[in-house]
Amino acid sequence: YKRITTRSLIEMKSQGEKISMLTAYDYTMAKIVDSAGIDVILVGDSASNVMAGHETTLPITLDQMIYHASSVVRAINRALVVVDLPFGSYQSDSKEALRSAIRIMKESGGHAVKLEGGSEIKDSIKKILNAGIPVMGHLGLTPQSIYKFGTYNVRAKENAEAEKLIEDAIMLEKLGCFALVCEKIPAELAKRVAESISIPVIGIGAGSDVDGQVLVIHDMLGMNNEFSPRFLRRYLNLYDQMTAAISQYVSDVKSVDFPNAGEQY
Ligand code: KIV
Ligand code: NA
Repeated sequence: YKRITTRSLIEMKSQGEKISMLTAYDYTMAKIVDSAGIDVILVGDSASNVMAGHETTLPITLDQMIYHASSVVRAINRALVVVDLPFGSYQSDSKEALRSAIRIMKESGGHAVKLEGGSEIKDSIKKILNAGIPVMGHLGLTPQSIYKFGTYNVRAKENAEAEKLIEDAIMLEKLGCFALVCEKIPAELAKRVAESISIPVIGIGAGSDVDGQVLVIHDMLGMNNEFSPRFLRRYLNLYDQMTAAISQYVSDVKSVDFPNAGEQY
């Protein structure tokens, strides 16, 4: 396989080829996702929700992100692996941000980091980029700020927030970010963002006029039934299929159907 790099993604945008991205947090899942031909694997801090059962992304630690990321890196042959800097590991000052990004690169073997926010974290992004670490931006509904927003509703519906988002996107490109995620913003605004910059805009709940799409893998495989935002397409109903398989196993054990003569020594 030819490995995907940050440069391949920028090339893909200029050629009009859409970029596919999914999350993964462990070795087994990442192996399947990589073999299936995904361009980018995001070791998202959504691991806090889907792997650890927290209500928000805030509790996950840098050590835990490094554990997930190193498991993913061991599985991949082709995909670019981007790792989220978790809440609290980059907001205090740019030196701490750089230290956190360096730990991710050294200890996990990931290829790039993602940080939430625009002008507020400009110095941190600069410092990380100066150290030679590729940075992916993240604007719109940034879940680490959920207690500031107070709601998971669509962001940037009003003019002021929309204009700031476009300014932030242009700033991220100027700083040298290689791509940026736009989460849960109006499709029309996402289109304007993608047209305003030459680095790829990866959307989630941001419509189709962007340069790529990202989803949380547990959501798109239908492993949970509770989370059903409009932007989510379920490609499987694994929750139901796994439940059926597990109940069958329980009943086979109870009835001594399993193991049978051929399944023992
Ligand atoms: O953590 C995550 O899964 C993300 C994506 C939803 C963009 O940041
Ligand atoms: Na995230």
